[in-house]
Amino acid sequence: MSGSILGDLPVLPLAESFALTAAYKTDSSPNKVNLGQGVYRDKWCQPWVLPSVRAAEELLHKERVNHEYLAIQGDESFNQKARELLFDSRISQQKNIRTVQTIAGTGANYLAASFCARHIRPKKVFISNPTWDNHYEIWKTAGPEITQQLYPYYNSNERCLDFGGMVKELEKGEENDVVVLHPCAHNPTGHDPTRDQWKSIAEVIARRRLFVVFDSAYQGFASGDPDADAWAIRHFYSIFFSDVSVSQKPLPAGMIVCQSFSKNFGLYGERIGALHLVSPPSVSTQGAFTHLTQLARAQISCPSLFGARIVNTILSDNSLRQTWEQDVKTMALRIRDVRSALRSELERIETKGDWSHIERQIGMFSYTGLSRQQVEMLKNQYHIYMLGNGRMSMSGLNEENVAYVAQAIKDVVECEP
Ligand SMILES: Cc1ncc(COP(=O)(O)O)c(C=O)c1O
Repeated sequence: MSGSILGDLPVLPLAESFALTAAYKTDSSPNKVNLGQGVYRDKWCQPWVLPSVRAAEELLHKERVNHEYLAIQGDESFNQKARELLFDSRISQQKNIRTVQTIAGTGANYLAASFCARHIRPKKVFISNPTWDNHYEIWKTAGPEITQQLYPYYNSNERCLDFGGMVKELEKGEENDVVVLHPCAHNPTGHDPTRDQWKSIAEVIARRRLFVVFDSAYQGFASGDPDADAWAIRHFYSIFFSDVSVSQKPLPAGMIVCQSFSKNFGLYGERIGALHLVSPPSVSTQGAFTHLTQLARAQISCPSLFGARIVNTILSDNSLRQTWEQDVKTMALRIRDVRSALRSELERIETKGDWSHIERQIGMFSYTGLSRQQVEMLKNQYHIYMLGNGRMSMSGLNEENVAYVAQAIKDVVECEP
């Protein structure tokens, strides 16, 4: 008997993507392939520091910056640049958008969930099924009293978006229930709504008066163009929250956009992100913003400096910004190339089944359709690591390993009864 309540706590499993990375690191096989963690890898399957980020680091080093605390809401210049990247320079000037710098996308999601739990008070939060698994944890921790209502997102037979199922579920929402949406490069399925489908989703959201939380973690990864990837967010702003929308009734009570710079700037461990709070045009954000910053103060006191300095330096300088835009294209295009390489190889060796979805999907991941059992076999027999739901992080593939991975997939697919 330990005599302490601590001893009664059961041991929990490590979050899957972290457990996979740890297992991959200790695997001594020369053939091992890491398709688990959602991080970009270059053509040698190594971490890639973006050239724009390297250049910004060197500039900052020369400036001999200090290490003072930031304000609770973060660096205003960074916040402005982050807003412009997401909303464009015209919308980002509007008074009804307020920004708080956060600890990456996760911190933005956590702050959003705690703010909603306390001040929006939804009965339900609608979360896509499937989704980034931390969405469930974050909402469970920040809003334990809120029911998590999973909306269908993926049609596994047709391997496409389950648009009908999604909209039907959202129709069950009530005023101020929250809906969490991925604006582009949906994790894990790689399927996004079309622009017409976004318009229909917006129409349901307005009618049911849902509160919108966009989680933007992959801006640039869907198309290679950060502006195109922000289309859904800008569309929601223009129809709900711009001056033009005042006459349109009903409208959602508000919107939060969570923004991560982990993937599109390759700043994973620097933990840099932002949260943007948007209110209808006639509604002041002042009070709500003070409540948001009060929560941020309790959670982190104030955000971190280095990532904000890097992003701000890049987005404030025309030439660095162009380099960054090229860097994003480089990542998006390499992922597109390995998609077609994997599909071609699977088809060349006549693997049973249809593999066209690998190329139809977009963003960092492929939702392969492999079963949990097949994924286990890939890990145990072939040293190939990916999430149990069959999600593969595509940039773990390269010219060297793609044939090996395709052959292993063929083996596991065809060995099953
Ligand atoms: C959909 C989604 N949101 C948020 C995040 C959080 O990213 P980070 O906290 O590293 O910025 C991720 C990371 O994988 C993600 O896939």
